[in-house]
Amino acid sequence: MAENGNAPKGMRKGLTSYGDAGFSLFLRKAFIKGMGYSDSALDRPIIGIVDTGSDYNACHGNMRDLVEATKRGVMLAGGLPIPFPTISIHESFSHPTSMYLRNLMAMDTEEMIRAQPMDAVVMIGGCDKTVPAQLMGAASANLPAIQLVTGPMRTGSHRGETVGACTDCRRFWGRYRAGEIDDQEIAEVNDQLVPGTGTCGVMGTASTMALVTEALGMMAPGGATAPAVSADRRRIAERSGEIAVQMAASGLTPDRIMTEEAFENALKVLLAIGGSTNAIIHLTAVAGRLGIRLDLDRFDAMGRDIPVLVDLKPSGTQYMEDLHDAGGLVTVLRELRPHLNLDCVTVTGRTLGEEIDLAPAGFAQDVVAGNEAPLFAEGGMAVLRGNLAPRGAIIKQSAATPDLMVHRGRAVVFSSIEDLTRRVDLPELDVKKDDILVLQNAGPKGAPGMPEAGYMPIPRKLAAQGVKDMVRISDARMSGTASGTIVLHVTPESASGGPLGLVRDGDEIELNVPERSITLHVDEAELAERRKGMKAPVHPGSDRGYRKLFLETVTEADLGCDFDFLVPQAQSESPES
Ligand code: FES
Repeated sequence: MAENGNAPKGMRKGLTSYGDAGFSLFLRKAFIKGMGYSDSALDRPIIGIVDTGSDYNACHGNMRDLVEATKRGVMLAGGLPIPFPTISIHESFSHPTSMYLRNLMAMDTEEMIRAQPMDAVVMIGGCDKTVPAQLMGAASANLPAIQLVTGPMRTGSHRGETVGACTDCRRFWGRYRAGEIDDQEIAEVNDQLVPGTGTCGVMGTASTMALVTEALGMMAPGGATAPAVSADRRRIAERSGEIAVQMAASGLTPDRIMTEEAFENALKVLLAIGGSTNAIIHLTAVAGRLGIRLDLDRFDAMGRDIPVLVDLKPSGTQYMEDLHDAGGLVTVLRELRPHLNLDCVTVTGRTLGEEIDLAPAGFAQDVVAGNEAPLFAEGGMAVLRGNLAPRGAIIKQSAATPDLMVHRGRAVVFSSIEDLTRRVDLPELDVKKDDILVLQNAGPKGAPGMPEAGYMPIPRKLAAQGVKDMVRISDARMSGTASGTIVLHVTPESASGGPLGLVRDGDEIELNVPERSITLHVDEAELAERRKGMKAPVHPGSDRGYRKLFLETVTEADLGCDFDFLVPQAQSESPES
């Protein structure tokens, strides 16, 4: 039902089909008036607000405040805010993995944006998979949309030392496994790692996704870093509501913001912040929804020019609250300016270059390094290829051990996560510090859900000898809060017949990060023989429901692990190995 020849707006959008549009609108208004709205309110631009609060999700524990502040911003700008719920995903409360549920949340977000009448939408997310899911959904729905994040948690303190989730979770747990700290101390640390609501306060996936989303242009300028419990965070929510009303008026849709050039900006920021390896999968998935394929080799080439500038754990020493105090993302963008596509339009309708110019002046600080003295001369990540990973693998070189970047060793193979859990700490495990740990069947289909199992524990008997790092290779992911010489996302995955599944105990593997190679030193004839005996894992419950959908349609890491039917056709086809 068009208004004055234009597309329907507000309450007139997407009417339920009864064969009589007038009646559909009459009925819709009757029901929503049950909540006390007037006709005058209902005639305003409608701004949906995606509420992902959940008592299982401490990362979104400030949701109620943010929804209220966003509503205030919408109303100050003359719109009518209508919050609505979608799925909420927290990393520690998502079985088998949060990645398994990301696409479900993306579908929920897309379909609820599309199904309900709204002229623009503010999506509030924060925990690792929620922001990618919301951007994927928004890209497909293509309604004016702005991302608001819940913001990072503050740091805690343990015996005088600053701690934060979750790099310090892993560090303390490693010390506990090695017998360096006792039951009493590990219990004390457990109370301090998450001192309040908000997302993990290091450069994990949530922080990374917040920063790259701002760089993409999909967030209010300055919106990535303000702590969850700060007044700044609420002001950003108010501002996001105002911007959403402007976007509803101008019709600025995600496809005009998330262009190929904007993704290039996001990838450069990902490299410069020493961000989470997960972000490359998520950005690939979001871009895929818009028919844009991110090229891993181009990403690797960018990494040779873009240094790591941000001193945050796990690559550095500080926390997100420190980056916020240092000016937030714009401090990084100023350093990167010569590398960026400054003409990309952002949610404000202004370009990225204009937003950098409008930001408060820079000042001396010690969180973001200058180009002349970076933390790490190359970008945070490198893309590896070779007969072990024909379609690529990723290593976070900024968080790896320099001495292991060129390393040849004997494989110690675990055939699944269960096998790893069962055997890694056995005293009789045949493993030495120069060996390479290999984990199979931990990819999107293998696990299923591509868990963050790539950060394999150092076998207890080696940890007790003081071994802190080993080369570890898998088709799994790794938490952005983890560090080590860890090769991830090996593609094709072992459950799809990838060569990783052919590795056996005692094989020689060679990692050479400067040359970007990963090689299995076993001849082709032997590999062909082993391939004959390969079997894909069988998962219980895979004959029905979401699990069946997931296993039948999830794509590999180099395609973003989206469902093949959710992306334009050309995107879902596997590249040649
Ligand atoms: Fe939610 Fe880390 S668990 S951001």
